[in-house]
Amino acid sequence: EKGGYDYFMLKEIAEQPKAVADTLLGRIDPSGSLTLDEVRISPSELREIEKVVIVACGTAFHAGLIAKYAIEHWTRIPCEVELASEFRYRDPILDGRSLVIAISQSGETMDTLMALRHAREQGSKVLAICNTNGSTIPRESDAVLYTHAGPEVAVASTKAFLTQLVACYLVALYLGQVRGTKWGDEIQAVIKDLSRISEEVERVLETMEPVRALARTLATKNTVLFLGRHVGYPVALEGALKLKELAYMHAEGFAAGELKHGPIALIEEDLPVVVVVPSPRGRSVLHDKIVSNIQEIRARGARTIVIAEEGDEAVVPYADHLIRIPATPTLLQPLVATVPLQVFACELATARGNEVDQPRNLAKSVTVE
Ligand code: M6R
Repeated sequence: EKGGYDYFMLKEIAEQPKAVADTLLGRIDPSGSLTLDEVRISPSELREIEKVVIVACGTAFHAGLIAKYAIEHWTRIPCEVELASEFRYRDPILDGRSLVIAISQSGETMDTLMALRHAREQGSKVLAICNTNGSTIPRESDAVLYTHAGPEVAVASTKAFLTQLVACYLVALYLGQVRGTKWGDEIQAVIKDLSRISEEVERVLETMEPVRALARTLATKNTVLFLGRHVGYPVALEGALKLKELAYMHAEGFAAGELKHGPIALIEEDLPVVVVVPSPRGRSVLHDKIVSNIQEIRARGARTIVIAEEGDEAVVPYADHLIRIPATPTLLQPLVATVPLQVFACELATARGNEVDQPRNLAKSVTVE
């Protein structure tokens, strides 16, 4: 059942292009507009929404953090993202004009379920983004958008994450379309890019051997840091989470702009630091800033592992290891940038002799609060 792979995680990483394509299937019509018939919240209700609140845990929370950038950019609706476990305990401000999005692979995560129940009690509409048909979270929501990742067996979430991102982009683009924002042309262009993105994910998978080789050389390290900016920041958090849960290593993700506010003190000789570099096109200011961050940490002895777009030559002099990803629109970059981090964590776990599919102390679905 592992389809010739040593671990379910490897199989599920390999299934990502298909999972992404399946999640898009039938949702973009030939004219390039979005059809989301499972979203049973009417367009008129969606036009009234004043705020979006995303609740989720773990990897699904990271998908939510990325969704915030997309939703606010394409719809101009304010969006908050909150760890589901914290949400109801702080008496959040919600009403009938708030749309709450609950993201969950399993659909059974108790923290997320309790958060959505709280939201519905306050009169908010809840949209579930979920991978498991008929599970509790979609059953208790007003509407559901299923991700079509297929069953995810490995405890570490991989293909579910990529499909959660796709679903979040679809929701953001749909909201943008329904409400008609000034980004109409950009939305059309992104829909086109999205419909081709599974081929880019496939291309990334074909180039992962050097990432595996690099991971094996780091098996005796104690700490790995991850840096990113903009949507690369949640990607950094996700890379760190994968490494913690699989390799049992100390790993932390930071927004690169925060380095100078403290974390730079952690940099020491030969410390591996993974940097997710934003596209030099688009938000080029951020690109330039992160290139100076790479220079700064390297000057302090860090071993820089740089994930950068093909054609980005500015990073070359400062990268001890360079991992190339295809050029994508800024907001879609997490779909390709996360893949090397999954492979990296999986290989490090294997090199350290850990149980990849069943990490210690963890369960696939966390049904207690
Ligand atoms: O089933 P869910 O998506 O609600 O699960 C949420 C988290 O427990 C889950 O993403 C967890 O963080 C993964 N093990 C991370 O790889």
